[in-house]
Amino acid sequence: MDQFLKEVLHDLSETPKRLNSKYFYDEKGDKLFQEIMNCPEYYPTDCEMEIFRERTGDLAVTLKNGFNTFDLVELGAGDATKSSYLLKELMDMQVDFTYMPIDISSGMVDYLEQELPRKIDGLKVQGLNGEYFEMLEKANEISGRKKVVLMLGGNIGNETPENALAFCRNIRSVLQEGDLVLVGFDLKKNPGIVLSAYNDAAGFTRDFNLNLLQRINTELGGNFDRTQFEHYPTYDPASGACKSYLISKKDQVVTISGQQFHFQESEFIYMEISQKYSVEETEQMAGISGFKTVNHFFDHKKWFVDTVWQCI
Ligand code: AVI
Repeated sequence: MDQFLKEVLHDLSETPKRLNSKYFYDEKGDKLFQEIMNCPEYYPTDCEMEIFRERTGDLAVTLKNGFNTFDLVELGAGDATKSSYLLKELMDMQVDFTYMPIDISSGMVDYLEQELPRKIDGLKVQGLNGEYFEMLEKANEISGRKKVVLMLGGNIGNETPENALAFCRNIRSVLQEGDLVLVGFDLKKNPGIVLSAYNDAAGFTRDFNLNLLQRINTELGGNFDRTQFEHYPTYDPASGACKSYLISKKDQVVTISGQQFHFQESEFIYMEISQKYSVEETEQMAGISGFKTVNHFFDHKKWFVDTVWQCI
């Protein structure tokens, strides 16, 4: 059985019901996420862009770390908008490195391999299409050079803190002592600011959540009525957990691939976590997973941090 179907049937059979936000990103979901990033309430993209645009020189020096040569591996590179600032700076500094973007989309990897050397003269690009850990291992097979790994976008926040820690440990296990990673974390801040970012007035975040129900209908033969579910975002400033739910507006039965799911009125589906951290919490995570913190790069409001860790 297809992995998507298997997970959906399993997750909706749990109490409480849930869905995995990694499935938000079909074609429509990608478009909605673009809209979210452009809407005034959603600050993380702008904050991290500012760091890459304004702190490029310092970032490049920290990541070069005296290495003669290295591979710059980016997990989930997307269109590499932010990292392009860094790539350009490293080329201007005449650093000997190969950019290895890892992405689940083969189209994106092909695009980066073709387009980036055109935009940044002399840039060496070795794209890797597939899952992060398999591709990191492949990167190690391709070259024994030092690795500098970028994990941007605050994507680590879409895991629970326990899973994020396990993820960092796994990353550490495929790297060598001295290698570097740069991780983007969205920071704890005024709770109202966080909540609005996940509850934009135009309703893009609501549609982003509801779109997964549509995706289930289209791809898995489901019959969700999206008008009968309501988007409910929450933020707990103590734990830093920003969670979104879809609430059933009535008693209803949904059929997916022949299997029935009963929703009571007001029952929720847990859709996504976007965990926010304090700087101290990021440092603890580094320590527990086998890294030491080398440097923090903040935007001017200190809402987001790109933190650089070294494998110890
Ligand atoms: C991709 N990720 C870091 C986004 C976030 O902020 O958690 C996904 C997102 N979900 C709702 N808005 C944006």
